[in-house]
Amino acid sequence: VNEDNGDFAGSSALPTIQFQPQENVIDLAWGHPAAELLPVNAWQAACAAAAEKFGWQALTYGHPSGPGVLTEWLGEHLGRSDGRRPHVLELFVTPGSSAALDLVSSCLTRPGDVVIVDSPTYHLGLKVLRDRAAELVPAATENGTLDPAGTARLIRHLIKDGRHVAMLYVVPTFSNPSGQTLSAERRLAVADLAAATGVTVVEDDPYHELWYDVQPPPSIWSLGPDAPVIRLGSFSKTVAPGIRLGWLTANRRMVETLKGRGIVRSGGGMNHANALAMAMFCSSAMYASHLTLLRNAYRDRRDTLAAALREHLQDVDFAVPQGGWYLWLKLSDDLASEELVKHAKASGVHFLLGKEFYINGSAENRIRLAYSRCSLSELDEAGHRLMLAVQSARRH
Ligand SMILES: Cc1ncc(COP(=O)(O)O)c(C=O)c1O
Repeated sequence: VNEDNGDFAGSSALPTIQFQPQENVIDLAWGHPAAELLPVNAWQAACAAAAEKFGWQALTYGHPSGPGVLTEWLGEHLGRSDGRRPHVLELFVTPGSSAALDLVSSCLTRPGDVVIVDSPTYHLGLKVLRDRAAELVPAATENGTLDPAGTARLIRHLIKDGRHVAMLYVVPTFSNPSGQTLSAERRLAVADLAAATGVTVVEDDPYHELWYDVQPPPSIWSLGPDAPVIRLGSFSKTVAPGIRLGWLTANRRMVETLKGRGIVRSGGGMNHANALAMAMFCSSAMYASHLTLLRNAYRDRRDTLAAALREHLQDVDFAVPQGGWYLWLKLSDDLASEELVKHAKASGVHFLLGKEFYINGSAENRIRLAYSRCSLSELDEAGHRLMLAVQSARRH
């Protein structure tokens, strides 16, 4: 009997996971996966297969850009699912999109540089970029997505003013929070903008394969082979976020830079053991069948929440996204989102305020509902509870 272990387990005061449920609240605030859609048994089998196949090599320092078996699978897979197959020297395995954003922004920015960000955009991506002490400037937008011509003018203006514009951050596919997708035409224009101005575009693309109706356009990275574009991919939404694994595609020079960073020189390939297990998961065809399961399950969730909102909340406005995890609601002018969130708490439903997704808040009266984590019956009930919250807010 190991008494230390016993003590450790007994005294563990901290929770195991990030999400903490609130009693009697349907929580639409967190972009987390549904518990029953996490492939626990298949992942266990993949870990066992990696240990069996790679033995001690699964547990030592990994190759700097990720183990060959995974980069090989990624190359083939992206050749099919994206617009261009990356060369093996254009691929780098990461510990997920957030860590990749932290890593590439550490290479590209110095404190005080300008980083242009789409508006609205992923609120925690903003947090990663704020950690760099960069000045965040909103991109020009038109009809809910990035306007490449207006953004190119903005960049030229900033450069003329003597500013160093370090990068442009964009979530082009089923965006968090808006669910919007940048058109193929605009993607091409963004790649041209990167080539013309030399400003690196960081394309954060974790939802690209979670399409429910039609496949989205190819990535900006694939459309601009000679442009400085880095595309961040993640297994967080398509397999499981706890694995902390993703990849990026970039030009060879950028991949060389990443391989030479101290954290990689010192620690080897990032998240090596899980990268090998993922290679087993993917090459056993689990990835493809799991993705089909997810598409069906998350499509049902989207449709259930959209139907509940239509039934109960006639005066909110939203577009049904073609993929991803979020509904982005515009409230009517007489219903301030800050008021609604207070009344929603009493009605047992929770969500995020739209202003969190803008650099300096926003005049837009919006809220974001994540439908990924909740069951169909909770999503159905959420519509009813939101209606009660709206009625209560209007009475006060
Ligand atoms: C746009 C975007 N980027 C990154 C992440 C986090 O990705 P990862 O788990 O790979 O760090 C999320 C998760 O919500 C996201 O919506």
